[in-house]
Amino acid sequence: LGLPDLAGAQPAWPQRPVTMIIPFAAGGPTDVLARALTEPLTRDLGQPVVAENVTGAGGTIGAARVAAARPDGYTLLLGNIGLATSVALYRRLPYDPAGFETIGLITPVPMTLIARPGLPAQTLPELLAWARQRGSEVNLAHAGIGSASHLCATLLRSITRIPMTTVVFRGTAPVMTEMMAGRIDLTCDQTTNAMPYIQDGRVKAYAVTTAERLAALPDVATMAEGGLPDLQVTIWHGLYAPHGTPAAVVERIARALQATLRDETVGRRLADLGSAPEPQERVTPAAHRAMLDAEIARWRPILQAAGEFAD
Ligand code: MLT
Repeated sequence: LGLPDLAGAQPAWPQRPVTMIIPFAAGGPTDVLARALTEPLTRDLGQPVVAENVTGAGGTIGAARVAAARPDGYTLLLGNIGLATSVALYRRLPYDPAGFETIGLITPVPMTLIARPGLPAQTLPELLAWARQRGSEVNLAHAGIGSASHLCATLLRSITRIPMTTVVFRGTAPVMTEMMAGRIDLTCDQTTNAMPYIQDGRVKAYAVTTAERLAALPDVATMAEGGLPDLQVTIWHGLYAPHGTPAAVVERIARALQATLRDETVGRRLADLGSAPEPQERVTPAAHRAMLDAEIARWRPILQAAGEFAD
């Protein structure tokens, strides 16, 4: 199953386990996605693909770990849209997000604005009126500057101009714990994490960030229905290797990722969580390279105008 040993000098890849770095906390959306992928990837590659959470600083600590790893295909990054936004948000990022070897796009994921169960508002307009009265007393959680939830929180604050106080976590899984305990008012999270909590009423959902309602959450309005038509964002995940990883290894991982995303069990699991595998033509190194570069260019002016930066 490994690469053919064409030159006779290099052993075929992979010869040993492959580590996939998850830059956010266990139990959250990136972690859930990684753990849906590792088993089929392991089957395809013939060596264990092992997920490891390396958290902090909005996912940039995990990304930095992968950027500095030996470019041999044994250390990979499961990144999200933050790879495209962090470059506009950090003055001193210890890596170049455009420098990763792109393996392929994985999934698009809608986001949902959710709140603690006791929050009195029933609809998005009521929620905004409630928040407007309280301003900075309202706390809005996210997973660190450069995370997907930070992007959505930034758009929410800049579009509504409500100066809510942001509270930072190492992923959105710990946000859920605090939200269910009533200590966090609001967050904007990926449906892949929030869905089960919304479905059984452990958190309140106000709006999805997609143009249409989601089949998996038919009772939750869109942002546009609730009066915020400009708050549309679908985040995405991709798989990356350190700069300089041999092209043949990158291509081999891309083929394994494509096969994994064709797997029916994986497709069903993603659909249940309000997502879907990307079409196969987007799951290639070249297609994802072009998309990542376009996303970096797209978000930079928007984030610079919204203005919340890290050092
Ligand atoms: C997570 O896995 O916790 C999230 O992807 C964090 C985020 O990007 O909002």
